[in-house]
Amino acid sequence: MKLLPEILQSAAVIQAIRRDIHAHPELSFEEKRTSDVVAEKLQAWGIAVHRGLGKTGVVGTIEGTQGKGQSIGLRADMDALPLQEHNRFDHASTHDGKMHACGHDGHVAMLLGAAEYLSKHRDFKGTVHFIFQPAEEGGGGAREMIKDGLFDLFPCDAVFGMHNWPGLAVGEFGVTPGPMMASSNEFVITITGKGGHAALPHNSADPVFAAGQMLSALQGIITRNKRPIDAAVLSITQFHAGDASNIIPDSAWIGGTVRTFTHEVLDLIESRLHQIAASVAGAFDCKAEVEFLRNYPPTINHEKETAFAVEVMKDLVGEHRVNPRIDPTMGAEDFAYMLQAKPGCYVFIGNGDGDHRSQGHGLGPCQLHNPCYDFNDELLPLGSSYWVQLAMRYLSR
Ligand code: NI
Repeated sequence: MKLLPEILQSAAVIQAIRRDIHAHPELSFEEKRTSDVVAEKLQAWGIAVHRGLGKTGVVGTIEGTQGKGQSIGLRADMDALPLQEHNRFDHASTHDGKMHACGHDGHVAMLLGAAEYLSKHRDFKGTVHFIFQPAEEGGGGAREMIKDGLFDLFPCDAVFGMHNWPGLAVGEFGVTPGPMMASSNEFVITITGKGGHAALPHNSADPVFAAGQMLSALQGIITRNKRPIDAAVLSITQFHAGDASNIIPDSAWIGGTVRTFTHEVLDLIESRLHQIAASVAGAFDCKAEVEFLRNYPPTINHEKETAFAVEVMKDLVGEHRVNPRIDPTMGAEDFAYMLQAKPGCYVFIGNGDGDHRSQGHGLGPCQLHNPCYDFNDELLPLGSSYWVQLAMRYLSR
């Protein structure tokens, strides 16, 4: 592995920053202390800082001393999750009900490590923008920063993102051109019928029965309507109806999520969902009302920038440690908005299997969004070295 020696030397300092952020998690758009820490460090290293995009976003900018050139954006997310941490080690969360269970504390630290290094090595042409965004976990912080003028104020020829990936070995990277993560969408179908006595169902229009038929009918969209080679998930995760065993209620509702890699498949699923809900409800004298909400679009890696990132990763850790065609996942990521605005690439960096966790960790798995998760500090010098080499090579092309 070709880690940068200077980055290895400052690994303990960066680790301390990571653990401090882990101990003080903040939810989406509330990253006040976190963005203070980020801005303070950047300023201490003589980096120009802009604050306030997307409420708590921070952008640090370094202009190379070798004149004008291209500009590159490197992005880390800052927010934590509403989850009670089960770990009891020293840097465990001090905020009840909040936890860095997705490793965004590590993402911030890896990018800070790269910023510190580049602040001391400005002998390059062009510009590096360090983008620290709020609210990845559902708030669309990337979208909000773009709306507030991110790429007008800080033009980027390309933008890159990175997420730690449990299960992938430390020292390994995974990426794929095209869809890397799915679009995420949610729906609620309210079925209204006519309530009545449970012993006299023929006098009612039973919304519970109609909703029950809908559960299986909707899966027909996935197995009968979309092309088998198009990946998509439709999961019904909520079913609410009734208060008593002897009363047929007036209404029931079901809710769930839809994940796809393309807008075309999403359009198809949404329109079929409306049709099936109306038809199935109608078949049992009920009415269906559908709310369908499109959240994050799919995260689509651009071909050229992905090929470029793969070369940088291979040089860093060796060809055998880079999977350039990793399976995409049906999870979602709001870096998608940045990739809609600019060419770029989003990669996974292996977080290992959990053996790295300090004494006192919870007994659950070291998986994302799990109360026993912890970011692997071994990644810090690796991730920072990737960022530095990616930026330097991009700007020297
Ligand atoms: Ni995450």
